Amino acid sequence: MNATITTLPGDGIGPEVVAQGVAALNQVAAVFGHTFTLKTALLGGCAIDETGTALPQVTIDACTASDAVLLGAVGGPKWDNPAAKVRPEQGLLGIRKALGLYANLRPVTIHEQLIPASPLRPDLLVGVDMVVVRELTGGIYFGEKRREAHASGELAIDTCVYTTGEIERIIRAAAVIARGRKKKLVSVDKANVLETSRLWRSVTTRVMKDEFPDVTLEHMLVDSCAMHLIRRPADFDVIVTENMFGDILTDEASQLAGSMGMLPSASLGADGTGPTRMGLYEPIHGSAPDIAGKGIANPMATILSVALLLRHSLHLESEAQAVERAVYATLEAGIATGDVAAKGMTRSTTSQVGAAIVARIART
Ligand code: IPM
Ligand code: MG
Repeated sequence: MNATITTLPGDGIGPEVVAQGVAALNQVAAVFGHTFTLKTALLGGCAIDETGTALPQVTIDACTASDAVLLGAVGGPKWDNPAAKVRPEQGLLGIRKALGLYANLRPVTIHEQLIPASPLRPDLLVGVDMVVVRELTGGIYFGEKRREAHASGELAIDTCVYTTGEIERIIRAAAVIARGRKKKLVSVDKANVLETSRLWRSVTTRVMKDEFPDVTLEHMLVDSCAMHLIRRPADFDVIVTENMFGDILTDEASQLAGSMGMLPSASLGADGTGPTRMGLYEPIHGSAPDIAGKGIANPMATILSVALLLRHSLHLESEAQAVERAVYATLEAGIATGDVAAKGMTRSTTSQVGAAIVARIART
């Protein structure tokens, strides 16, 4: 297969982990006989430095012309001035919106080797295997924001907006995933307080009743969900929720897997009927400026994102599984970065872990 993949390494540890993702892609191409044309574009703080904007038009054009996008992370203290008009995060939110990637899949699976790295009791982690489907292009992230003068100083407003259509399409995306798994969907909202959540709940109930009667639907309030994720994480299969709740719950869920450095994500747009489906793949972790340049960042979340890219955008399921197997075999060989290395295990560097994974990418 020929495919064009644009990488957006971004800031902080982004370039370090994306380099390992690229090595994994090149190895997949070599082992399975594909031609992947890799291009790189600027996004985030590095784009601000070079061009004055976090999301240059050439970056959007490069992504639009690709089969898939692999992103590292954006942001850092250098661009953190709260008064700044341009911020790296605008690049990330902007590219998701520009590409229409409304469905963000964040799978949480726990490998046995990672259990000691999780702060949770091991018995709670047995059987944890869920996918959080986060709505990615709506909600309070994209509603109108403003500031104005106020008697006490200033007044700030963020608006949370959802339409029926936005809710329907994300619920359908999540329900299709649930149908392929245990047919259990938990929809998370705050319908006891928020109007957007009440619309969310009624649309979800209707779509599921009319179109997915074979999938069990449960509504859960977000505060309650935060609690149950820790108390009984193995009971969840597919969770669907709006943008900000999904952001928060997936950082929480990452701790089940031991580290933010382990969780990949896929952001998808269209309904998947075409032969390829454009997607953006990124680790859920941020740019981690505190460890940038030290060579200790965990590349596994990015390499697992490469597996999702192969699966969802290129429809290369065997290749995706080969990458996932290579990551798990590396963990089983006791090779990991400090965030997940168990007591007594040697702490390997980013490139050592990357090389160990690459060496294990093979046909079965
Ligand atoms: C994420 C991140 C981003 C988000 C930030 C960096 C804007 O936390 O991908 O989860 O909130 O979506
Ligand atoms: Mg987040």
